[in-house]
Amino acid sequence: MNEIKFYNGENIPLELHKVRIVQKLHLVPIERRLEALQEGGFNTFRLNTKDVFLDMLTDSGTNAMSDNQLAAMMQADDAYAGSQSFFRLQKAVEDVLGKKYYLPVHQGRAAENILSNAYVRKGNLVPMNYHFTTAMAHITQYGGKIAELLYDEAYVINSSHPFKGNMNIEKLEEVIKVHGAKNIPFIRMEASTNLIGGQPFSVQNLRDVRAIADKYNIRIVLDASLLGENAYLVIQREEEFKDSTMGEVMKIMTGLADIVYFSARKLSSSRGGGICTDNADIYKELEALVPLFEGFLTYGGISVREIEAMAVGLYETLDETMISQSPDFIAYLVNALDAHGVPVVKPAGVLGVHVDAMQVCEHIPQKEYPAGALAAALFLISGIRGMERGSISNQRDEYGNETYADMELVRLAVPRRVFTLSQIKYVEDRMTWLYENRALIGGLRFVYEPPVLRFFMGGLEPVSDWPQKLIAKFKEDFGESL
Ligand code: F0G
Repeated sequence: MNEIKFYNGENIPLELHKVRIVQKLHLVPIERRLEALQEGGFNTFRLNTKDVFLDMLTDSGTNAMSDNQLAAMMQADDAYAGSQSFFRLQKAVEDVLGKKYYLPVHQGRAAENILSNAYVRKGNLVPMNYHFTTAMAHITQYGGKIAELLYDEAYVINSSHPFKGNMNIEKLEEVIKVHGAKNIPFIRMEASTNLIGGQPFSVQNLRDVRAIADKYNIRIVLDASLLGENAYLVIQREEEFKDSTMGEVMKIMTGLADIVYFSARKLSSSRGGGICTDNADIYKELEALVPLFEGFLTYGGISVREIEAMAVGLYETLDETMISQSPDFIAYLVNALDAHGVPVVKPAGVLGVHVDAMQVCEHIPQKEYPAGALAAALFLISGIRGMERGSISNQRDEYGNETYADMELVRLAVPRRVFTLSQIKYVEDRMTWLYENRALIGGLRFVYEPPVLRFFMGGLEPVSDWPQKLIAKFKEDFGESL
């Protein structure tokens, strides 16, 4: 894509869209933000958006939709079976992802449930580049285990490695030899590996995984929720593809997998999800599970209006100027925070900016959840809602012991085409202030811990009166400013 240069030499991302519908935001006083945290168990998932200024929790279902998506929603065909909207979506899946058979599901984790139900048996092992919370929960729910096979550099925060999401090929072969191919239902590759900071894998790496999969006759399942962004970074970072189009790269990647599934809440800026394949046998194996868990095969629990939005949204992922906006804003914010000394995952990935809470809160032990504490502190002093992606997001092991996360990150999601550059600058400003006052942040402890996916609804409390001390310092520096 051609970079647009500024005469004054500044290097800032330029929005190639205009805003036509807006939503008013509220920046409530810091005292109200503390109450909101107390009401929500110091868990940003449990905040009410009336108290949130910039909602950087996730890009899931929060990407801005286009005029063409909204227009398509108006002509949706309501039918329980055989809806024309479904056939438009099926065609979009084939055109964009290159797969003939498509099974609709209501969101990404529903696909994970169906795939785990169909293929994962007690004692099985699923090798993957890295887990995603819901993928792992479904695999373990059906008695399976996972093996995470990234290269060591994936865990280096301050790195310049272009493809930290790459699967460690040597380890993959070793794991297959040790556990036996027959105990491995599939290899899972996640595009733009979410939990290590939205880091891509290269096409060459996927080709290498394919070679191993073929050698041992194991299927590859590609989680394509963030496929567009992975393809965008492949064009930027992998020499062989520098002149390729989004469509070409996406199809090469999906072509290397036997099964592709996705959360449409991310991939196509809509709601919904899907599983697709070119293999008629796989389609038959999975087909019966869709009406059981999701709905009839031509809607799969998705509203027809969203099905129309999904179809248009899939075609829009082929537009590099649409996909580039979020990664370019992320790179801008990563570079700005880095220049202020704030430790962030580098190189800039996709989905969001990932702040390293292990370094920011090095005085907080992992058992007091540094990333959860940093996410709560940032909300308190700014109204910015990020997401804990550390030990709170981990699940306990089969004996009920804590499993501490490899990385303690706070993710500040940048959904597609939602924020303006001045809002991004506000994030830079408040995060920098918080970093300079980081000694005031204290730990958290659970008061309510759900048994599954505890990070969603868990309740915590501060281990001391650190929030009050942070408020006092904020008032000293900002006076009556919100
Ligand atoms: N796979 C990946 C890579 C994801 O990022 C997500 C969701 C899912 C699967 C599950 O999809 O939410 O539609 O059921 N990620 C969201 C996030 C929740 O905030 O990163 P879902």
